[in-house]
Amino acid sequence: MNYKFSEKVMSLKPSAIREILKMTADPNIISFAAGNPAPDAFPVEDIRRIAHDILDENPIAALQYSITEGYVPLRDAVKARLAAQGSFDADRDDVVITSGGQQASELSCKSFLNEGDTLIAESPSFVGCLNAFKSYNANLVGIEMDDEGIRMDLLEKAIKENPNVKLLYLIPNFQNPSGTCMSFERRKQVYELACREDIVIIEDNPYGELRFAGEDIPSIKSLDKDGRVIYAGSFSKVISPGMRVGFVSCAKEIISKIVVCKQVSDVHSNILAQMICHRILTETDFEAHLSHLRDIYRRKYSIMAKAIRENFPADVKVTEPQGGLFIWAELPERINMLDFCKKAVENGVAVVPGTAFMSRETDKTNSFRMNFSTPTDEQLVKGCEILGKLLK
Ligand SMILES: Cc1ncc(COP(=O)(O)O)c(C=O)c1O
Repeated sequence: MNYKFSEKVMSLKPSAIREILKMTADPNIISFAAGNPAPDAFPVEDIRRIAHDILDENPIAALQYSITEGYVPLRDAVKARLAAQGSFDADRDDVVITSGGQQASELSCKSFLNEGDTLIAESPSFVGCLNAFKSYNANLVGIEMDDEGIRMDLLEKAIKENPNVKLLYLIPNFQNPSGTCMSFERRKQVYELACREDIVIIEDNPYGELRFAGEDIPSIKSLDKDGRVIYAGSFSKVISPGMRVGFVSCAKEIISKIVVCKQVSDVHSNILAQMICHRILTETDFEAHLSHLRDIYRRKYSIMAKAIRENFPADVKVTEPQGGLFIWAELPERINMLDFCKKAVENGVAVVPGTAFMSRETDKTNSFRMNFSTPTDEQLVKGCEILGKLLK
């Protein structure tokens, strides 16, 4: 059979990360390739007890169809949390529960982009959302970052050079994959530029609550005066990615479009999972849980950072994130990154080649991503020793 797939789908490639993750099913491979929460970061006992209580007390509500906007008590709890962080304006905004944070970004893109419209993202950026944007045949433009986030000079140039720049997709906190945290100054500059050029910002923030060093920086959404920032959040990294619960906070006018798009996509997000998230937020000591997660990741990061210092040659540049789950390593010219990633997996360590995070396949990078949340402490050390030997 000669299937005539759509052009949109023909341009999509299986995620390089998913392909590498397949290899990591081999128990002999040390995987620095995933982006999963640490096994001891899940509030398993709370989830078990709450799920049991819900199915005991209110089974039909948890199993019945529900409304697209999401479980109202969860929406209210999310609004209260976001309002306290400055990322929700009760007069102007509303919140919709989504199936993970990725759906929030995808539905935003679906609401705004016609084929050929331009979406600008940091380069590198999160491959899941990049693929979602590509599936709408967007003109995807990647802009390099420096230590403070997306580079303003290149961003201004790209806005001038590309047609219909409608959306700017940014991950200001502990960016995936680079680990970069955008400075407050840069957030203000980006917001002001978006106002001047009439561009809508998608602020994707799944890692903001995983800061293990330094001070919190206000969101871009907290600077928003005219309703141009769409804030995407997620419980994936702080409760469970498998439950697929995220949320979007933005102006009611945008929310009404997102709701229609979501109805078409999946009717509503898993209601039992939404009810569990609500009770975790409101009936357990969620702040203590977050603090526990930060302790786990601070410790794991410091183990990997030390192992890198002791094993990697000095000409390999690595980022020093203050939160999140990833370290980004840039190789010197003498080493070919793709050859290195291949050799690494042959020697028992999987990392993700930087090419997986580029907006366009032709964009060059000599970097790769390492994750410190999923491996055991021993694997963090042993994996860095193996990579260090290869690099030397
Ligand atoms: C930057 C970024 N956005 C969104 C997501 C998707 O998260 P979710 O599981 O909430 O869909 C991820 C997951 O790794 C991510 O790194």
